[in-house]
Amino acid sequence: MKHFLDISDHSSDELQDILDLAIRLKKEYFSTGNPPLFKGKVLGMIFQKPSLRTRVSFDMAMRHMGGDALYLSPNEIGLGKRESIADVSRVLSGYVQAMMARVFEHAHVLELAKWSSVPVINGLSDYSHPCQAMADALTIEEKFGKAKGLNVTFVGDGNNVAVSLMQISVKLGWNFTIANPEGYNMPSGSVEQAKKVAEKSGSNLSFLRDPHKAVIKAQVIYTDTWTSMGQEEETAKREKIFPPYQVNARLVNEADKDVIVMHCLPAHRNQELTDEVADGPHSVIFPQAHNRLHAQKAILARLFQVA
Ligand code: CP
Ligand code: NVA
Repeated sequence: MKHFLDISDHSSDELQDILDLAIRLKKEYFSTGNPPLFKGKVLGMIFQKPSLRTRVSFDMAMRHMGGDALYLSPNEIGLGKRESIADVSRVLSGYVQAMMARVFEHAHVLELAKWSSVPVINGLSDYSHPCQAMADALTIEEKFGKAKGLNVTFVGDGNNVAVSLMQISVKLGWNFTIANPEGYNMPSGSVEQAKKVAEKSGSNLSFLRDPHKAVIKAQVIYTDTWTSMGQEEETAKREKIFPPYQVNARLVNEADKDVIVMHCLPAHRNQELTDEVADGPHSVIFPQAHNRLHAQKAILARLFQVA
């Protein structure tokens, strides 16, 4: 594994191996602590957008494993503005042992990887959020085991988080359903690619408009913000369109009785997710956020080839 840029780049076996390692590293962390497998390694973290979970969980993952991390703020390096992405990548490659980048345009993280001589991780782009999907899959497997045929439903905007959740669902043999308003579909290329994977893995894919139909028999309901970072000028318009897609107690009651409710966070409480559900018995939003730490240790360990 050279880089970690998109779930679709990796085989089911590779992804399951990372999840198994994440479970092992998580157990180890809470018992003896992790050994310093990342000693002498520094992760350069390039951020073009704000972050709580991605920034802190990558930083702590490196520290727990004996390594270090360097935060590079949007103003500092001016990726593609102060300096070309190719030059930034070639310079940083000589200073750090891996890079993680949160960018606006997916092409920019691909460009970093193209020029880098060290592993590059996508820490969220406008297209996908693969590290989030790994933590999500870890959370789902912890709850349901390695069950094929699980029903995963995303309600809301067909955004980066939805794309990565669909991608990992079809890789792991889960059925994936999305309910989103017209005009807010996932990119068609991601859907076509997922359909091909689903043919092999036996997953069913459903693309619906009605959230109530979408949650029938759902064992996972997932939602995310109606307005992603970089789309702020559309906020008012989206706030008029998306309210029927709110994940509230009524919707959750229409799903499987053991359904878990997930959100990548940050949540806009009482917009896409009500307080009642976020803080209710079906919610796993905080263990899910904490699993970023464990999933990313496993991704880093595979990229560094140390575990
Ligand atoms: N879920 C997630 O990536 O959160 P941050 O934007 O806070 O990193
Ligand atoms: N879809 C959100 C996810 C944030 C973690 C965004 O891109 O802003």
